[in-house]
Amino acid sequence: MSDEFKKQAAARAAEDVMPGMRLGIGSGSTAEFFVSALAERVRDGLDVIGVATSERTHALAAEQGIRLTTLEDLPQLDLTIDGADELDEQLTLIKGGGGALLREKIVAAASGNMTVIADSSKVVTTLGKYPLPIEVVPFGLKATTNAISQILGELGLPQKLTLRGGEAAPFVTDGGHYILDAHLEAITQAQSLANRLVEIPGVVEHGLFIGLATKAYVAGANGVKTVLPA
Ligand code: A5P
Repeated sequence: MSDEFKKQAAARAAEDVMPGMRLGIGSGSTAEFFVSALAERVRDGLDVIGVATSERTHALAAEQGIRLTTLEDLPQLDLTIDGADELDEQLTLIKGGGGALLREKIVAAASGNMTVIADSSKVVTTLGKYPLPIEVVPFGLKATTNAISQILGELGLPQKLTLRGGEAAPFVTDGGHYILDAHLEAITQAQSLANRLVEIPGVVEHGLFIGLATKAYVAGANGVKTVLPA
């Protein structure tokens, strides 16, 4: 069922795309439904250009005939459409479940608007049940892990961090980094946590998207709802 909802949210977002738009194209299963919906419009003659947020999305969008470029060639975008792992009523997001958070955040920040597409199971009152991905440089992993742990402790959050993929075969992001998943349960001070995390030299980015999403399409049993930041 959730796939059907993801598809509906993606289809709704594809309707918003106007001729000539410069698009950021997200990653993950919901964003992949968006790629298919957009490709259909492109086949019907819609002229747009996109920047993908992952190698996987790039390959998929290229295969489906969507014209693509890079942020180097097109550093300013009109609209990014992307999924999320969790979203609250302010449209603060947790992203990075698929490991693409760094490029996703760079692309979203380069866009005038960001529309989140999600099934209704992603909407939460308090963020944090979904583990927060923190992208880190492999060099000095232990020191970085300790530094993150210390900050979590200072903020009264659980100090539970897991290396995605495990120590024997860590998951490697498109940027060549590792991901630590922080099992926080409830993030009540997203901005303070975000500020503290980026102070750590080995932290490249984290999956908290604050003030980036301008709209969400959330699909559930009662159809597709438009959500604006509270
Ligand atoms: C990719 O790194 C993520 O940020 C995805 O946007 C997020 O995990 C949502 O993925 P699904 O659409 O597959 O749930």
